[in-house]
Amino acid sequence: MKKVKYIMAAFIFLFALQVMSSGITTTTTMSPGIEQTVSQKPTTGEYNFLPISVGLLLLYFLSAYFTRKGVLFSPLTHRRIWNVLLLFNFLAAGITGILLILRLDLRWDIPFIRDVTFWHVETGIAMTIIAFFHCVWHWKYFLSIWEGKRKSR
Ligand code: HEM
Repeated sequence: MKKVKYIMAAFIFLFALQVMSSGITTTTTMSPGIEQTVSQKPTTGEYNFLPISVGLLLLYFLSAYFTRKGVLFSPLTHRRIWNVLLLFNFLAAGITGILLILRLDLRWDIPFIRDVTFWHVETGIAMTIIAFFHCVWHWKYFLSIWEGKRKSR
């Protein structure tokens, strides 16, 4: 349990860093008398990698902890919830990804392409984080494939 506390503390720290960095602005004098407040955040920082991944990891650790304590859900319901979240994020990232391909390959004109790209990346991040928990649950399955191959050599 000690380890989980340290991991959670590390993620809270990373999350705090992200929140702090998003608020950094500077005041620049453009020409005499005209001042403009400019964000120091790089212009490419338009996605929410840290809030999504840290938020999901925290939610996962909390839900797993309370499930183990028998407070929140049964272990089966807990898995089902995360599996359904994985499915929805996979569908969203996959369908928006296909729209991006259709735009590039077949020159589809999609007027809301900026929103499509935004949600593609956000759901893609969520899908990857949840898929990571999913792989950890099933690591024995992957290990058995690997060990099976080694034995049959
Ligand atoms: C589910 C299958 C996926 C498909 C079919 C797919 C497809 C695509 C396509 C076609 C593009 C546009 C490429 C270009 O403009 O040259 C794109 C961009 C991108 N994808 Fe995916 N992708 C998938 C999953 C993911 C996942 C899981 C993530 C995140 C972990 C992700 C993150 C991104 C990012 C960051 C971009 C660049 C967005 C930008 O230009 O601002 N994708 N994807």
